[in-house]
This record gives sequence, C-alpha cells and structure tokens, in this order.
Amino acid sequence: MGKNSIFVNNNESFMKHLISTIFTALFVACTAMAQTPAAPVDFYPPSVVPDRIIATWHDDPATSFSVNWRTSINVSKGIAQIQKAAAGPDFDSVKLGEATSEILINDLHAAHYHSVKFSGLSPETTYAYRVGDGNIWSEWIHFTTASKGVKPFSFLYFGDAQNDLKSKWSRTIRQAYSDLPKADFMIHAGDLININKRDQEWGEWFYAGGWIYQNMPSILTPGNHEYTRITPTEYKLTPHWRPSFTLPENGPKGLEETVYYTDFQGARIISLNTTAFLGHKKDSAAQMEWLDKVLANNPNKWTFVTMHHPVYSPAAGRDNPVLKNSLKLIFDKYNVDLVLQGHDHTYARGGNNLPEGSMVMDSTGPVYVVSVSGPKMYLSSMLSWIDRAANETQLYQTVHVNGDSLTYAAYTTLGDLYDKFKIVKKAGKSKQFIDEEPFGYQEQINLSPARLDKMKEEERTLWTIRFSEYKARKKVKEDNYRKSQLAKKPAKKK
Ligand SMILES: [Fe+2]
Repeated sequence: MGKNSIFVNNNESFMKHLISTIFTALFVACTAMAQTPAAPVDFYPPSVVPDRIIATWHDDPATSFSVNWRTSINVSKGIAQIQKAAAGPDFDSVKLGEATSEILINDLHAAHYHSVKFSGLSPETTYAYRVGDGNIWSEWIHFTTASKGVKPFSFLYFGDAQNDLKSKWSRTIRQAYSDLPKADFMIHAGDLININKRDQEWGEWFYAGGWIYQNMPSILTPGNHEYTRITPTEYKLTPHWRPSFTLPENGPKGLEETVYYTDFQGARIISLNTTAFLGHKKDSAAQMEWLDKVLANNPNKWTFVTMHHPVYSPAAGRDNPVLKNSLKLIFDKYNVDLVLQGHDHTYARGGNNLPEGSMVMDSTGPVYVVSVSGPKMYLSSMLSWIDRAANETQLYQTVHVNGDSLTYAAYTTLGDLYDKFKIVKKAGKSKQFIDEEPFGYQEQINLSPARLDKMKEEERTLWTIRFSEYKARKKVKEDNYRKSQLAKKPAKKK
C-alpha cells in the first residue's frame, strides 16, 4: 500500500506535470500564433505568362504607341510582335521588337516589367500585336493608330479610382467601356490606387480594367496617392509608375512621364503633376514655364488639361488657392477648354460663372470638372462656382469632339446620364458654352438623416445654409430652363 501509495502519488504528480506542460505549450503556441502576423497573401503573383498589359502613347499617336507588361523574373527578356491586322487567321508578316526590361521589387515579390515602343506605323490603321518572350505569348491584340489630321474623336475620363478597386471600381470602368467601346483613349486623373507600394492594389487596378487597357490607350496623371512623402517637402513617385506605363518625355526635366502633352486629331491633351506643383517651388516654376510655352505654341483647336488637385475645390473645407493664383491664370490666358481633375471625391462641374438662370453664354477659359469613379466619398461644398453637383455617386465621363463642337457627358456607374454640356468654337466667333444639364435626372445632393445626425452641430448648420443657397440657385436655373423650353414650342392653332 505504502509503495503503491508512493507509486500512485508519483503517478499523479507526473500526470499533473504532464497536463500542466501540455497546457503551457498550448498557451505559448496560441499566444505566438496570435502575435505573429499572418503572411500577406500574394493575390496577383507574376508568372511566365504576360499580364498587366497596357497600351499608352509615348510619341505621335498617328504613327506610334507603346505597350508595357509584366512577367516573373524567370522571364529575362521581353519581345513584341506586330503586323497589320487582317480578318484571316494567318499571322505571317510580323515585325519583331525587343523590349526594355527592368526588375521591380515590391512588398510581395520581384517581377520583370517590360516595355516596347512601336514606331513608324501608318495612320488610321488597325494593327495586331502580342507580347511575350518568344515562346510564351499574350493573345493577339488589336490597336488602331490615330489620324494624322483633324478628325472627330471621343474619350473617357475617370476621377479617382483609389479604393476597393476590384470590388467597387471595376463596375465603373466596365460600364464606361460598354457605353463607349469605340472611345479613342481614356484619361485617369490620378489616385489610381490608395497605398502606392502595395502590389495588391496595382493588381486590382489591372484586374478591374482587364483587357480594356490593351487596345484603348490610357493617358495617366499621377495623384498624391501615387507619391510617398519622405519628408514634409520631399515626395517620391511610386516605383510602379515608370515600369508600368510608357508616357511622353516632353515635360520639364525631372518630371518626365508625369508632365507631358499628346496631340490627338486636333486636340492637345496636357498632363500636369499637381503633387509636385504643390510640393516644391522649383517644380511649380518649371511646370508654369513649360505650360506657357506648350500653350503658346499650340496649333490645335481644342486644349484639355488633366491634373489631380482641382483649381476649384468641390469638397467641404478644402481649397487650393495656389492653383487659382498660378495655373488658372495661364488656362485663362490661352483659353483652355476643359480641366479634368480628381482628388476631392465628389462631383462638380462649373467655373464659367453662368449668370443665374442662364443656359447659354459666350465664354472664355475652361470648364472645370472634378469627378470620382471609385467608392470613396467626401461631402460637396456646394459653393457658388458649381453648376452641377453630386454627393455619394460613382461616375464616369465621355467627351465627343467633332469639328467646331464638343459634347461632354457624365454618367453614373449605372449608365444614367447625370450631367451634360456643349462647347462650340466657330471661326471668328467667341467660344459658346451651352448647359444641357439633365433636369429630368435629379441631382444627388441630399444627405441621409443618418449622415446629418452624425455631423457636429456647427457642421450641420453650415451644410444646411450651403444646401438651401444651392437649391435656390438651381431653382432659378431650372425655372428659366422650363420657360425657355415652353417658349420653343409652336403656338397651337386656334
Ligand atoms: Fe488625391
């Protein structure tokens, strides 16, 4: 019994020790698991198959274009093939182009980025191209060069995509494409992504647009989210920008591929880098000097500027007086037609200061637009410069240019017409602005009671004042519009 009791006691002690050890080990393991961050998921890893294929222009759109794509680092060289497209399936007269390749190491992996510049092409010609390494290829992709001269054209314009690119921005770019698949190009007004170092966000941006990017060239201007702040006055462009896109290098030194212009069928399209402009005096001075020259020597009838930070801010509590006192003066001096912007995550169109109730006016200077294509939303300032506003609405825009006239339209991501105007520029006459605001599609400006409830009292009071002033202005405009429509109707015969 004694032995047994010793034995039993020893056994109990051993079991207690064992159980205690197991629990301790489990606790330590669980704690360690809780403290060790999960390895980030690489949703868009590169492979030997080309992806992130995107067409841009680096030079004359009538005779050249560029293509960038990505592979894993196992693919050491990039090759492109091109020939005139034909309906027949035989591709036997291809020209070969060798790509420039560079490595990009991001937060998840290393990848090779390849870029090829096609030149010496014929205007108004559809080509078929493919990219790869000589063994593994993309599909054959059609791309049509521009006309050498003036010819009608159209394009898409997107404000900030930035957030939830796969989940909520994809529907906007896909709706835009399905509405205007023959657009000659698309403009992205900056903040394509949110955190510029995250490969997943770039992966989502390319996923959302997919093969649309391959045959409809993009004109891209960087926003503040394409930059990383190093010190309060020092910014660095995302390492993804230059490997991913091949853009013109006709801008000021040091700002190549962010400040540039492209001439397209009678229009000059200019990209300005407002992050650099607002960040460094030398970069603003360089852009001002460059812009003045580019506009002074502009043979085109139409001039459009795309830039990220807006001259007139439509978001409550935001303003960019520096841009009003600098770029706006140059835009007015050279009678720029459109300034297409982003940054403020709300929709606003205006700047012409139409007299209250007027729908047509002689105009100089640009129409300013701020738009948002992604899901991040700010509250509209509803200030007096705005002729059409929207709160909490994802939009895309189409612009058609045909000789003397330009037609602009904004659509919701559902494809509903939200805003419209025309600009007419006849020889010997002043530029005319014609407001075609679709009164039938009500402005989305009301805030929900829940949103109003969340506001501080002072904020809610200011909003209520702005809201009622805006509504009063719009009522005058809408009443006069209806009167003018009634006046157009022929009198009934008695
Ligand atoms: Fe921004």
